[in-house]
Amino acid sequence: MNLLVVKSSVFGQGGQSSGLAETFCQQWKARYPDADVVERDVVANPIPHLDGERIGALFSDPETRSSEQQSVVDFADDLLEELTRADAIVLAVPMYNFSIPSQLKAWMDHLARAGVSFKYTENGPVGLLKDKPIYVLAARGGVYQSSGQDYQAPLLKQFFGLLGFESLRFVYAEGLNLGEESKASALNDATQHIANLVAAFELGDA
Ligand SMILES: Cc1cc2nc3c(=O)[nH]c(=O)nc-3n(C[C@H](O)[C@H](O)[C@H](O)COP(=O)(O)O)c2cc1C
Repeated sequence: MNLLVVKSSVFGQGGQSSGLAETFCQQWKARYPDADVVERDVVANPIPHLDGERIGALFSDPETRSSEQQSVVDFADDLLEELTRADAIVLAVPMYNFSIPSQLKAWMDHLARAGVSFKYTENGPVGLLKDKPIYVLAARGGVYQSSGQDYQAPLLKQFFGLLGFESLRFVYAEGLNLGEESKASALNDATQHIANLVAAFELGDA
């Protein structure tokens, strides 16, 4: 039972999203004591942003690419393999300036590869990866759900849908900066939600 946990808080282990990810892992390990949990912290170990050289490497012809270009391709392949090997994925996602952390975006930018993780067809792009549960643990200072101003959740749905992942489950911890009562209540509700999701998981779920 493989779980991939992606953390992206600038506060490291002290981040609220990181704390929720820990809660998820504890629940997961309680249910699956032999679980293989892989953690990727994209702030502690940043993924380079795409630039001309990196994108050139990813688009390069395998017959003629340089060894530097090959190492960029190998790096991106490893990130994809980590994703495909997991039976379920946890994305711990803080809201920063109405969006996702740029470090998380840099990771995502290495996953979306035409001909590898999705393909173009006459009817638009189609994902090439097998669907599986992605648990998004969304930590927010304010409250955005149903406000019409949540640009994070639609972005994540659209992006992972492009790769073939249609099964995102969102756990919201909102209002974390709106006073102690609001914070305690949000974290308590999120913890309960996580427990329910872990209990409901079955291998092979999408
Ligand atoms: C740089 C920065 C930008 C933020 N921008 C927003 C924002 O746009 N909306 C919001 O509701 N909260 C915002 N917050 C508050 C965070 O969403 C909140 O602190 C949350 O706990 C972050 O998750 P983390 O603790 O896992 O890092 C921001 C916090 C920081 C540090």
